[in-house]
Amino acid sequence: ARDTRLIEVQSKSGSTGFACEPGETILHAGLRQGVTLPYECATGTCGSCRAKVGSGEVAVDWDEAPGHSRVKRERGEILMCQTRPLTDCVVRVPANVSVGFPRHALPQHFGGRLDVIRRLTPDVIHFELSLSQPISFDAGQFVLLRVAGLEGMRAYSMVSYGRNVRTLQLVVKRKPGGGFGNWLFEEAREGLFIDVFGPLGRATFHPDEDHNLLMIAGGSGVAGMMSILERATQEDYFRSHRGYVFFGVRKLVDCFYLEEFSRYVRAAHGNLEVTIALSDEDCGETCHAQYPEVQLAFGMVHEVCARAMEGRYDNVMSYIAGPPPMVDGALRTLIVGARATPDRIRYDKFG
Ligand code: FES
Repeated sequence: ARDTRLIEVQSKSGSTGFACEPGETILHAGLRQGVTLPYECATGTCGSCRAKVGSGEVAVDWDEAPGHSRVKRERGEILMCQTRPLTDCVVRVPANVSVGFPRHALPQHFGGRLDVIRRLTPDVIHFELSLSQPISFDAGQFVLLRVAGLEGMRAYSMVSYGRNVRTLQLVVKRKPGGGFGNWLFEEAREGLFIDVFGPLGRATFHPDEDHNLLMIAGGSGVAGMMSILERATQEDYFRSHRGYVFFGVRKLVDCFYLEEFSRYVRAAHGNLEVTIALSDEDCGETCHAQYPEVQLAFGMVHEVCARAMEGRYDNVMSYIAGPPPMVDGALRTLIVGARATPDRIRYDKFG
C-alpha cells in the first residue's frame, strides 16, 4: 500500500490522470498537480467532492464524515477528500475537470511549527505557524492542519496576508467535540510540529476586480475577513472603494480583533465601516468608548447587515464565512433581500 498510485479521472469535460503519493487523498493529490477537482470544505462536511469509483480499490479516512450523507456509498460513490487509493483507480467526477493553473498558488504539503499562541476570549485562540518553506496565498484562503494523534484534517483561514511568507496567523474557536481547538486549549503546545496542506479555497479577494466589499462573518469566520482587510489596507484599496464589515458574536466578551478593526478603519479614509452584531446582549457602551471606530448593534448579524446596507449594494462583492445557520441567513439576506447574483457572493461554511 506504500506505492504511488495512478488516478484516472473521467469527467464531463473528458479524461485526465495524475499520481497519488502514499497516504495522500485523491483530492489533495489532484489539486496539488493543478487538476481542478470540485471541492469546498476539503474536510468531509460539504459533499461537493463527490465522485464514483469506476475501478480499483480505495480506503476511506473518516467514515463518519457528514458529507457522506450526500453520497451513495453502496454504489461506489466517495468523497475525494476522504479517500485514499489502494490500487490504481478510475474515478468518475460529475463536473467539468481540467488541468490548469488556478489564480492562486497550487496547494502543497508543508511542515509547520506552532509558534505563538494567544488567547483572545475564553474560547478563541490566535496562533502562528512557522512553515518549512515560504507560501503564497490569496486573502480569504485556508489551510488544512493535521496533528499527530487527532483524526482527519481541520480547515483554518489565514488571518494574515502575504506573498512568499514563512509565517501564517490563524484563529481557532473551541467547540464541543472540536478536536484541534480543544487540543490547542488543553496545554502549552508551542514548538510542536504539525502537517499543513494548502492554500485552498475560492472565496478570495482580488483588488483588480474593482468592487466595494461587504463582509459578513460569524465567530472564527472573521479570519478570512481580517486577511482581506489586511490586503486591502496594504494596497490602499479603501482610497477608492468602500468596505462594510458585519461581525456576529453572542456577547461582547466573545468579540475579538477590536484593536485590529480600529486600525483598519483609521487607515481607510472614512470608507470602511465595521459593525459588531451582538445577538445575545443589548449593551456595549464600554466597548464603544474604548474603540470608537467600531460600531455596535443588537441582533443576528444578517439582520443587522440587512438594516444597515439597504440601498448601499452598489457594485458590491460579498464575502460570508461562519457556521452554517449564520451563512444561510446571510445568503438569504443577500439573494432574496438584496437580489444579489451568485457571481457576487463568495462564502465559506464550516461546521
Ligand atoms: Fe470533500 Fe467538502 S470537499 S466533503
